[in-house]
This record gives sequence, structure tokens and C-alpha cells, in this order.
Amino acid sequence: MNPISSLPLPPGNLGLPFFGQNPKIQKNHQNIIEEIHQKYGPIYKIRLLGKKFILFQGYEAVKFVLTNEKYFTSANKNQYFTSTEVFRNYQIIYGQHDITVLVGKEHREIQKLLAKTLKNKVLNNYINTIHNLSQSYISKWMKSNYVDLYFEINNYTLDIVLKLLLGIDSASESEISNYLKDMRSGLNTIPLSFPWTKLGRALKSKDKLFNQFEQIIVKRQKESDFGSDILGILLTVQGQTNNKLTVREIAEQMVNLLSLGIKELSSALTSFLILISEHLDVLKLLEIEQEKLDSSEPLSLDKLKKMVYLEQVIKEVLRLAPPVSCGFRQVIQDFSFQGFRIPKGWYISYQVNSVLQDPEIYEQPEKFNPERFNAANAEDKKKPFCYIPFGGGTRECIGKEFSYLVIKIFISVLLNNSSWKFQENQDLTINKFPVARPANKIEVCFTAK
Ligand code: HEM
Repeated sequence: MNPISSLPLPPGNLGLPFFGQNPKIQKNHQNIIEEIHQKYGPIYKIRLLGKKFILFQGYEAVKFVLTNEKYFTSANKNQYFTSTEVFRNYQIIYGQHDITVLVGKEHREIQKLLAKTLKNKVLNNYINTIHNLSQSYISKWMKSNYVDLYFEINNYTLDIVLKLLLGIDSASESEISNYLKDMRSGLNTIPLSFPWTKLGRALKSKDKLFNQFEQIIVKRQKESDFGSDILGILLTVQGQTNNKLTVREIAEQMVNLLSLGIKELSSALTSFLILISEHLDVLKLLEIEQEKLDSSEPLSLDKLKKMVYLEQVIKEVLRLAPPVSCGFRQVIQDFSFQGFRIPKGWYISYQVNSVLQDPEIYEQPEKFNPERFNAANAEDKKKPFCYIPFGGGTRECIGKEFSYLVIKIFISVLLNNSSWKFQENQDLTINKFPVARPANKIEVCFTAK
């Protein structure tokens, strides 16, 4: 008898077919996940989004998922997981070439291409745009009384990402933000496309967004200099390879970067301001670090590297309030883990928080302590895959360096120009699923220094 088939499934309750725990989980994801974890242990089954899931919690389980994925070579024989989209209309809306659904060689090629537009020296190209937009937003906020923090930060990140992707100015004031909203609303709805259904509206907005992007791409391809934004770098890099993408495929990649970056960045910036407002000693140290920098030196990657304490604080914010609370995979062959049978075809969700809050890795994990990331403590380097706000392994986020760049520039402009105060007695609760964001409107008043 096959020894795997004789093993039991993990404990847990699949709930009702179609609905399962779904409505409850979406409303109060983190608490419910923790409650079930207490009851069944780190590996358990649950029904989410109408599908059979096994949740993997804790360092060992999460590392197992991140290191046993289907890869583009067969060097690692334990290829148990493949990437998957759990929202039923995802591919109809975002396309077949979305990096998050590609696997194997095709995934590797797109990942390499896109990574070249978001890493290392090319980041230099983006500094001025991020700096100017940060200054312009912060000046605007200083002229208002209280502003709606998450709403404003979302507009800021949308403007930054679209300007850097395709050279589009003031995207937040255009129809683009509505198109993106419609597309997100159609992700997990009845798969019927009529003008009055959510999917119908999502597809209509998708067509408009793709049309706009495709026109920009075709025009740019005719120019002698492709430019130094993300599209320009992508066109230049792919011109040097045999991997020629069609205009449609390039547009799909641009839409993917947009949909994968904005909410996560907005979440990180919002949590940064909330956590700093609760730790004024840390704010003081951040200000001192900025004062020590040479203000006549223009902003550059080298200057940003000197903001060592700021980087520690960002790491701590992402540890305590990770924008992405979990990742999804599908099982491609039966295997056993910790005495349980994990069947082919089931879905897996690995839980980011369970690693970032593990007391065996992080001392007093509930405490906000940026010093845990100084060179002497380096708690993030204690074990491989123990610091995973950006995931890990084959599918680690390719926007990581870019995100640090945006957060560092924004916060340094803010520290040098403005003070801020949260409206009193506000509920600062963060909803953690699908991307962490404030549960309620948060008002903040920015004033000139
Ligand atoms: C603080 C900000 C961000 C956080 C915390 C974050 C987090 C993550 C995580 C956890 C994953 C892996 C998901 C998985 O394992 O399935 C991921 C993947 C990805 N992220 Fe990010 N992300 C951030 C910003 C960005 C930005 C700004 C971009 C692009 C402009 C981006 C592009 C991507 C892409 C393309 C992938 C898919 C990689 C692949 O499947 O190979 N991310 N991100």
C-alpha cells in the first residue's frame, strides 16, 4: 500500500461546500486563523473561497512550502506546489501571462525580464520622480487641515507607480483608478459577464485600461529612445533577448505590476505612520539620523544607503504589519508532511504572520523594536526564510528593492519637511486580509516644520 495514502488528512473543518468559513474569514481573517490554529495546530484544513485548503503555519511549515515549489529546472526533486490563482475570474481579468500564474521556464523568463526593470542601478532613474511626487503630495497635505490618510497614500502610490511604469501623470485624477477598482471588484464574483454584473463591469474597464496602455506601448516602440521608465527599460532589455513579447503581453505585465504593487506599498506606508505615531522615541531617532546627513548632497542610492536606522524601522513595520498576510499554492503531487497526507489538487495557504511573530526567531515578537535588525542582533538573518514580508524562494517579490526605495524617499522627505498629528480617539485597527489596510478612515494633520 502507498504509505502516503494511508496517512490521515490534517484536522479541521471544511464547513459548507461553496461557502465554508468564507464570509467569517473575510471579515476577521487574522483572529479566525489564530483561533483555528489554537484548536488544531499548525497544519489544518479549511474551506476558503469555496475551495479545499490546507493552511501551513509556523516557520518549518512555511519554509517547506517556499522551498518545494515547481521550479524551472528539476534540480529540486520535491516539487510539490505550483502557483495558482484562487480568485475564480483572475485570469479572465488579468490575462494568461500574469507572472503570478505562470510556472516553470515561462515564469522564470518573465520574472528575469521584469526584475531588470525594478532592481539595482536602474532604481537611480526613479529617484527624482519619487522625490518630486513625495514633496508635492506632502506640500498639498500641509495646506489642508486633516486628510484621509489611506485614501491620500493610495493616490500617491498610484501616481508614482503609473508615472514610473508608463510615464502617465496624475493617474489618481484620471479614470485609471476607477478601472482598477472595477477590475478588483470582479475577481471573486459570479462568472457571468453582462453590463450589469460585476464581472461585466470589470471586463469593460479592463478593455479600456488595456487600450490606453497598448496605445502608449505602440507609440513608444516607434521612438528612437525608449526612455528610462519601467516600460523603456523593458523594451530595451527585451530588444537584447530572443524573448519578444507582443504589445498585449507587455500591457499585461504593466497591469500586473500595477495590481501587485499599489495596495502593498500603500499598506506599508500607512502602517509606518501609524506605528511611528505610537513610538515617539523611534521618531526622534529617525529625525536625528536625517539631521546627520549632508543636506547639500543630492538624493542618490548611496545617500539612501546611509539611512541605516530608517531601513531598520521599515523592516520592523513590515514584520509587525506585513501588507501581504498569506500566499497561495496548489498541490501537484501527493506528499506527507508532519504525519499528514497532503493530497494533489488541494490548495495551500502559507501564513506570513506566523513566521514573523515566531518567538523562537524574534525576541518578544509583539514588541515594536527596530533594534532587532541592527548589525549586532540581525534577527532577520537567524535562519533562512525567517523574514518573509516579501515571500521567499522562486516567487519572492521582485518589487522589494523598489518598495524600500519608495518608502525611504517618502519618509525622509516627510521627516525633513513636516510634523504630523493623528486625530484623537480614532480606531486604528488594521484589517489584514487580503492586503492589510485600516478598517476605518484615519485622519491626520500635516504641518510644516
Ligand atoms: C511593501 C510592498 C510589497 C510587499 C510587502 C510585497 C509582498 C509580496 C509577496 C509576499 C509576494 C509573494 C507572494 C507569493 O508567495 O505568492 C510578492 C510577489 C510579487 N510582487 Fe510584491 N510586494 C510589495 C510591493 C511590490 C511592488 C511595488 C511590486 C511591483 C512594482 C511588486 C511586484 C510583485 C510581483 C511581480 C510578484 C510576483 C513574483 C512571482 O510570482 O514571481 N510587489 N510580493
